[in-house]
Amino acid sequence: DLVRPFAAGIDGASGGVDPAGVVSERRLSDLRGLFRDAAALERAVGEGDEVVYRVVAAPVPEVEGEVPFSVTTIEAGRVGDEFYMTRGHAHPEPQGEVYFGLSGRGVLLMYDGEEVRWVEIRPGVAGYIPPGWAHRTANVGGEPFRFLAVYPGSAGHDYAIVAEGGMGARVVRSAAGYEVVEEPGGAG
Ligand code: PA5
Ligand code: NI
Repeated sequence: DLVRPFAAGIDGASGGVDPAGVVSERRLSDLRGLFRDAAALERAVGEGDEVVYRVVAAPVPEVEGEVPFSVTTIEAGRVGDEFYMTRGHAHPEPQGEVYFGLSGRGVLLMYDGEEVRWVEIRPGVAGYIPPGWAHRTANVGGEPFRFLAVYPGSAGHDYAIVAEGGMGARVVRSAAGYEVVEEPGGAG
């Protein structure tokens, strides 16, 4: 059955969704193989293995016809020079997705297997992910970065494509704050 009409509170200051569905957390140890500096990652795992990001989903199932939405909070931090980021995935179906910035500042990185594109997401900015583009977000600011994601329920999630083939670029610290460095053929 499809979900009944409802309204959800979206708290841009806490990343909360009310009512909430599934809540998931990813720690540093869940992100092994994704950061370039594997030694720095292991040190940080040993020093407390902190939560890098949390996703609070609205109670909408991932099935054809429904439009699930969720709020992601990425903490501020880095592994080596690389900013805290999500695992990254593609929608195998393929289907598009919209991100909307709630608080903090992040980079939405997109990769179609050949070309890298990225946009900065701030409060009030929507980023559009076209069908067929793998996507990952990184927190490039000094406070938590939060955004709302809205996507078709039939999109599915392919994490292996990013874990094995990378995103074609990395988001790293620079003198100007951050830069997106292309990494052709790079893993993770
Ligand atoms: O739907 C999305 O693309 C987001 O809600 C992501 O799932 C979320 O930001 C977490 O990233 P990932 O699913 O790559 O771990
Ligand atoms: Ni997605």
